[in-house]
Amino acid sequence: WPYFVAALVFGYLLGSIPFGLIFTRMAGLGDIRKIGSGNIGTTNVLRTGNKAVAAATLLGDGLKGTVAVLVAGSFYGQDMAVVAGLGAFLGHLFPVWLKFKGGKGVATYLGILLGLYWPMFLLAAAIWVGMAFVFRYSSLSALSMTLLTPVLLFLVFQQAQIAELFLLLSVLLWLKHHENIGRLLKGQESKIGATSKPAA
Ligand code: G3P
Repeated sequence: WPYFVAALVFGYLLGSIPFGLIFTRMAGLGDIRKIGSGNIGTTNVLRTGNKAVAAATLLGDGLKGTVAVLVAGSFYGQDMAVVAGLGAFLGHLFPVWLKFKGGKGVATYLGILLGLYWPMFLLAAAIWVGMAFVFRYSSLSALSMTLLTPVLLFLVFQQAQIAELFLLLSVLLWLKHHENIGRLLKGQESKIGATSKPAA
C-alpha cells in the first residue's frame, strides 16, 4: 500500500504539470485555454500557428508519462510502474492546479506506453500518423489509436496487465473527447493545420 500510494502520487504530480499552458504563456502567445478548443494539449497549441511550441508541448506532456513509469519502475518494479502511469494520466487529465480541468491525454498516453512497452508505442504512433495522414483530424487519430491499443496489447502482445491499464486510460480519453466525437459526427471538427484566433 505505501508503495502504491507513493507511485500514484508521484505519477500524479508529474502528470499534472501543464506544459501546453506553461510553454504558450512563456512564448507570449497568451492563455491557451482562451484559444481554439480551449484545450491545453498539443493539437490546440498548434492552432496558435507556432509549431515549435506545439512540439515542445508534445514532448513535455509525453515525456512526463515516460519518466513517471521509468522512475517508479526502477525503484519498485513493473507493478508500481503501471500505477505511476495511471497517476500520470490522472494528473494530466485532472490537475489540481487547474481546478481539475486538464488535457485530453493523447501525448501522455503515448509517453506512458513508451515507458511501459515500446513496441506498442511504435505501433500506436504509426496508427496515429497513418490516420492523421489520411483524414487530417487529430481527435479521430487519437480515438482510433486508443481503441486499438488495448486490443493489440492483449491479443497480439499478450501483455494482460498493461492492456488492462490502457483499457482504463482509453475509456478516460474517450470520455474527455466527447465534444470532439460530437463535432466529428456533425462534420464540424477542425482539421490539423487550421489556426485559430483567441476567443473574443
Ligand atoms: O485528440 C486530439 C485532441 O487533443 C484534440 O484536441 O484541441 O482539438 O480538442 P482539440
